[in-house]
Amino acid sequence: MKSGIEFVSDDLRKLQADDFANPGMLWVARGEKIWGEAAGNGGKSCAACHGVAAKSMQGVAARYPRVDPGAARLVNLEGRINLCRDRKQQAQPLGPESDELLALTAYVAHQSRGVPVSVTLDMQNRKDFERGRELYNRRIGQMNLACTHCHDRSWGKKLAAETVSQGHGNAFPAYRLEWQSVGSLQRRIRACFYGLRAEMPPYGAQELLDLELYLAWRAGGLPVETPGVRR
Ligand code: HEC
Ligand code: HEC
Repeated sequence: MKSGIEFVSDDLRKLQADDFANPGMLWVARGEKIWGEAAGNGGKSCAACHGVAAKSMQGVAARYPRVDPGAARLVNLEGRINLCRDRKQQAQPLGPESDELLALTAYVAHQSRGVPVSVTLDMQNRKDFERGRELYNRRIGQMNLACTHCHDRSWGKKLAAETVSQGHGNAFPAYRLEWQSVGSLQRRIRACFYGLRAEMPPYGAQELLDLELYLAWRAGGLPVETPGVRR
């Protein structure tokens, strides 16, 4: 099993490896700042409850998406952070791909850098997982291809200017040159839907969560790399 970093150019590999040059570290730094700030209407800061993130958040991202016991549904890391915004800070949930949510997610996920991705399958997430696996293998869009056609059967091959990787999510949120920004794993998956000329599920859609779970299961053992750097 190979992380996506093994398929990028030497330049990008060096950029990701150097914390001072990696542009994704700007979002991590912003996330660290927000972590310590009280929420808008006087709600407690993340730090007030969770303390030092390097300790309390270490390994957390590697276990997501997971079924949240309180919400009784599958949530990704962004969704879990928004549950705390809503329930613990009495603040508005942060919008998908908003700078604040990306920064907090990158910051929290960064605390798991090097920790192997490890989601457990059980009765609670089995249905989500099965749907994710089915969608991963289903032909979609005008290109009539499934994720598996590229990311299992054709990795290592050139597609336009890119080398197709195994399609793992362990580097996300990641900085993409094409975006000139950090983006979430859902944004990356939506880009693949777009490439296949398939209708893109909206952010937060169950299909995307199911795919995230399936991807995390198939990436089991790969180290979290957040913030990754990609083309
Ligand atoms: C026509 C081929 C093709 C298909 C089909 C496809 N992708 Fe991709 N995907 C790419 C290319 C090209 C990239 C960018 C290079 C890379 O990392 O693979 C990419 C990147 C990714 C990445 C980021 C990997 C990384 O390390 O940065 C993920 C995750 C991903 N795809 C998931 C999916 C999912 C889920 C599906 C099905 C909905 C899918 N892809 C369908 C071509 C494809
Ligand atoms: C008032 C206290 C409080 C505040 C403020 C708070 N949280 Fe939480 N957080 C919790 C508790 C308690 C849990 C455990 C689950 C639960 O009870 O909902 C939790 C769970 C989490 C988890 C999941 C941990 C795991 O092991 O799965 C993450 C991630 C998280 N919080 C991030 C944040 C972030 C980021 C912020 C700031 C935007 C924040 N929290 C603000 C109390 C808080």
